[in-house]
Amino acid sequence: MSEPQQRDTMAEDALQARIDTLAPWFHNINLGGIWTAPDHFLGDYPGRKFERFAHALPADLTGKSVLDIGCNAGFYSIEMKRRGAARVLGIDWDDRYLAQARLAAEALAFDDVEFAKLSVYDVGSLGEQFDVVIFMGVLYHLRHPLLALDLIREHVARDMLIFQSLTRGAKAVAEIADDYDFNEPDAFDEPGYPKLHFVEREFAHDWTNWWVPNRAANEAMLRAAGFTIESGPHDEVYICRAGPVPFADYGPVGAVYPAVGGSK
Ligand SMILES: C[S@@+](CC[C@H](N)C(=O)[O-])C[C@H]1O[C@@H](n2cnc3c(N)ncnc32)[C@H](O)[C@@H]1O
Repeated sequence: MSEPQQRDTMAEDALQARIDTLAPWFHNINLGGIWTAPDHFLGDYPGRKFERFAHALPADLTGKSVLDIGCNAGFYSIEMKRRGAARVLGIDWDDRYLAQARLAAEALAFDDVEFAKLSVYDVGSLGEQFDVVIFMGVLYHLRHPLLALDLIREHVARDMLIFQSLTRGAKAVAEIADDYDFNEPDAFDEPGYPKLHFVEREFAHDWTNWWVPNRAANEAMLRAAGFTIESGPHDEVYICRAGPVPFADYGPVGAVYPAVGGSK
């Protein structure tokens, strides 16, 4: 074996060892020929999923700022950087996922993607708004999902929100009346009525799954938090814009929760 080839093999072995140390990976990312989760139970995830809605996102993010909440190993953060975003900040609550994200960004030479340990409940501490906020695959892991959406709307979402949630139940979306009579017996049993299914124990062998919305609940919660749904380019995925918060005229209906350490 010639010398440069030997060096390449050594570098690949070293990278593979670093990937293995941080396993298991939820994001399957191609780090220069080495895949991080080749045996993912969802196949090539989230690459395959992204292919189905990537067209709905701005192709050019030059000059834009992006916040990726629950960034995991940074798949979406890196994709936004590929689209030219000026600033990308990925936050997650899990140290191992953050270490994966840092390794992926380093291996792909996206050194200026920032990653920080921060919970969605503490986004107010950033004291900053972002042009694009990604909130994919996190809502159902939260014990307080609407609080999280309220905090995102109040503190960090300047314009676009890219949202996804694990979704189960009816795909129908019922026309919701402005009000229901106290004695109305049937409305809540309509399949298309917004519903969050509460998981007391585990779902999919994961105790961090707490609420599984149906499609109507995803849409209703986004609207209730002050997001206008622009499109639903793929199952469970929504592209939204920050809009008026319903009932805001009645006072602070949204995130009555301190912006931890923040300026607001
Ligand atoms: C199912 S993964 C989704 C990852 C990625 N956003 C995606 O769509 O592929 C959920 C991620 O949310 C993170 N997470 C869970 N609770 C969180 C919280 N309170 N604040 C920030 N991240 C959280 C987890 O650590 C995990 O990385």
